[in-house]
Amino acid sequence: MKLGLAEMLLGRDPVKAAATLEQLKGDADEALETLRDLARGIYPPLLADKGLVVALQSQARKATVPVTVEAEGVERYPQDIEATVYFCVLEALQNVQKYASATAVVVRLRDDEGALHFEVADDGRGFDTATVRKGAGLTNMSDRVDALAGAVEVTSRAGGGTRIRGSVPVPAAVVAA
Ligand SMILES: Nc1ncnc2c1ncn2[C@@H]1O[C@H](COP(=O)(O)OP(=O)(O)OP(=O)(O)O)[C@@H](O)[C@H]1O
Ligand SMILES: [Mg+2]
Repeated sequence: MKLGLAEMLLGRDPVKAAATLEQLKGDADEALETLRDLARGIYPPLLADKGLVVALQSQARKATVPVTVEAEGVERYPQDIEATVYFCVLEALQNVQKYASATAVVVRLRDDEGALHFEVADDGRGFDTATVRKGAGLTNMSDRVDALAGAVEVTSRAGGGTRIRGSVPVPAAVVAA
């Protein structure tokens, strides 16, 4: 997205184009670092230290679309639960930035009745869930959530935005602790 923007600005506003390129250098460095960490099997440090809300707020700030994070009763969970919700929300946010042409996105997290619920809703162009060709994003989301006996659902229609809603059960032992 930002590369496209820089390309477009090049002729019209070279100063702004330079600023965008400067940002991209930082983004590329960070992406490379994340990739190296993941390749070495390193879990996202902020997620490990501070949990879902802080880690997702930090990712939200880097998005090309304004993202609001709302959390209700969300605390700390076992690593597999936090990783699943984190990566599902990130995939959904990637998709919003790539395809939705949205003006806003809301990420909601809620701990309720033995389950951790997550939702990513955008006001963009939407798509036909019946005919779309699923890529790694939507496929990984359902695989991860299935592995924890949770559920995830995509609601979208042309012109009406997209909403991803999922939940994963939180074991009672964790709640007690
Ligand atoms: N928020 C959204 N708004 C509009 N279209 C979307 C949105 N999310 C997904 N899509 C559509 O659903 C398709 C499948 O998404 P998915 O994440 O599974 O694959 P991808 O993004 O195409 O590829 P990958 O995730 O492997 O990079 C996308 O190509 C896009 O057409
Ligand atoms: Mg995707």
